Amino acid sequence: MGKLQGKVAVITGGSSGMGLATAKRYVAEGAYVYITGRRQAELDAAVKAIGSNVTGVRGDISNLADLDRLYETVKAGKGHIDILFANAGIGEFLPIGAITPEHFDQTFGVNVRGTLFTVQKALPLFRDGGSIILTGSIASVKGIPAFGVYSATKAAIRSFVRTWTLELKDRKIRSNVISPGTIDTPILAPLPKEAIAQIVAGVPMARMGESDEIATVAVFLASDDSSFITGIELFVDGGVAQV
Ligand SMILES: NC(=O)c1ccc[n+]([C@@H]2O[C@H](COP(=O)([O-])OP(=O)(O)OC[C@H]3O[C@@H](n4cnc5c(N)ncnc54)[C@H](OP(=O)(O)O)[C@@H]3O)[C@@H](O)[C@H]2O)c1
Repeated sequence: MGKLQGKVAVITGGSSGMGLATAKRYVAEGAYVYITGRRQAELDAAVKAIGSNVTGVRGDISNLADLDRLYETVKAGKGHIDILFANAGIGEFLPIGAITPEHFDQTFGVNVRGTLFTVQKALPLFRDGGSIILTGSIASVKGIPAFGVYSATKAAIRSFVRTWTLELKDRKIRSNVISPGTIDTPILAPLPKEAIAQIVAGVPMARMGESDEIATVAVFLASDDSSFITGIELFVDGGVAQV
């Protein structure tokens, strides 16, 4: 029997990168998965790649009406949620001096406000004993040039689960953050190759991670294997933020 047999999971940003890799793992472990993303074509391709036990719901996590539509679809379908991987996020990188109000509002609007309402609006459907997993970043604890606004959003993400661990304890809902290091996904496309090479040079394991190396950890935090773990930030980073 799979580690997530019979569970219902929602994965935002499930159409690409780590979210897609996690959706595949969750289904392989016996879960039914709802995945989201803004682009319909990518979402359709992801649903096809996952193959079964999956529904794609197009939507933007920074749009509250889209979140309502997502959860109405879940309610009408499976009726409840056991696992929420609030993973959708954007990366746009500008150094201090070049930061614009639009950059700030967009990055905080998706990564912080969007993640917060993704979780809050899921709670009425959440089964007691469920698992909430957020995608943070090593940027929450590292100084990286041009990452100022992005890093601050991920520090906020880390802060949320401290509060929720206490606020949701009576419902036995666990909240944790996975903080990836540099993982080879399309989000890195705007970064120049030299910037990536420089980041990788500082990684003790001397390489980028793969999306599936996040997915296996997302299975762990979703399953009973992590039944006594809540409120943590679990770094999956080849050691870069640890030394
Ligand atoms: N890759 C890394 O090195 C790295 C490191 C640390 C943390 N992270 C974090 O990991 C998470 C996943 O990123 P990834 O690397 O897997 O990148 P990715 O391959 O670009 O995937 C991002 C996913 O999020 C979706 N998405 C983006 N904005 C959205 C929005 N407003 N509403 C709904 N869905 C949205 C994207 O689909 P659409 O574009 O179609 O909406 C896509 O499915 C992000 O939170 C990112 O900050 C990444």
